[in-house]
Amino acid sequence: MGQVVVVTGASSGIGAALAERIGERGDTVVLMARRLDALEAVQEKIQAAGGDARCVPLDVTDPDQVKRVFAQVIQDVGPIDCLVINAGIGDPTPAKGFDSSRFGRIIDVNLMGPAYCLEAALPAMIERGAGHIVGVGSLAGYRGLPGSGAYCASKAGLAALLESLRLELRHLGVDVTLICPGFIKTPLTERNKFPMPFLMELDAASRKIVRAIARRDTEYSFPWQLAWMIRLARLFPNWIYDRLVGKRAAKKTPSS
Ligand SMILES: NC(=O)c1ccc[n+]([C@@H]2O[C@H](COP(=O)([O-])OP(=O)(O)OC[C@H]3O[C@@H](n4cnc5c(N)ncnc54)[C@H](OP(=O)(O)O)[C@@H]3O)[C@@H](O)[C@H]2O)c1
Repeated sequence: MGQVVVVTGASSGIGAALAERIGERGDTVVLMARRLDALEAVQEKIQAAGGDARCVPLDVTDPDQVKRVFAQVIQDVGPIDCLVINAGIGDPTPAKGFDSSRFGRIIDVNLMGPAYCLEAALPAMIERGAGHIVGVGSLAGYRGLPGSGAYCASKAGLAALLESLRLELRHLGVDVTLICPGFIKTPLTERNKFPMPFLMELDAASRKIVRAIARRDTEYSFPWQLAWMIRLARLFPNWIYDRLVGKRAAKKTPSS
């Protein structure tokens, strides 16, 4: 029997593509994001391919709304087998004119949003002794990047949160997967003016992510070339890392 899979940020980019792939498998996909018209367009594609999708408008930064909406989904559609925490935003937060409210907006969506969704979905999974939490982090969570302090902090925070939960939840029947993509062609990266090494097409990226979810990987980073470069960069002492990456600080503000 098909599973119930909830995808946040399903109205565009990675979330929409994942939802379409998951719909093809015969699962029921619950599409969540703020823009209902965009969700309905994704729902139409899934239904046209013979799949089952429901649209649920949601702002992940509103904890009461998240609680209410998840309870409704569990009541109407059934227990959530897999929650894909994908909704996210990226904006530059440069050191010059550092703006804590902009920092807060990114943390609200990318880190508090996942916390609210976890709070709403985890109790039932733990009670059933079954479930799968998938978080879409980023290779930008591995080390700091110039101009992207808030984005890097949010993704590093998400990685640490999911790893901590994974260690507890493995004894309770709930799996946790962290997905760390590099650069993927979506509306989020469309506005980036700097070179994006190993930039991937959305279709290829979403297929890789869906396979990693099916394997229940604990962590999946890709594309492998950039993932290995960044893993290596984690081992560099700061004086090497600063010389290699800090050079770009004056002109570039990545978000991926
Ligand atoms: N593209 C990349 O290269 C890349 C690389 C690494 C990681 N990621 C991560 O992948 C995830 C998806 O990014 P994307 O590239 O697909 O970007 P995107 O096309 O801009 O999609 C972002 C999604 O998040 C939703 N969202 C934003 N704020 C929300 C809120 N307050 N409540 C509910 N939903 C909200 C948006 O829907 P609404 O506007 O309709 O609410 C949209 O569906 C993000 O977490 C991002 O950090 C992306």
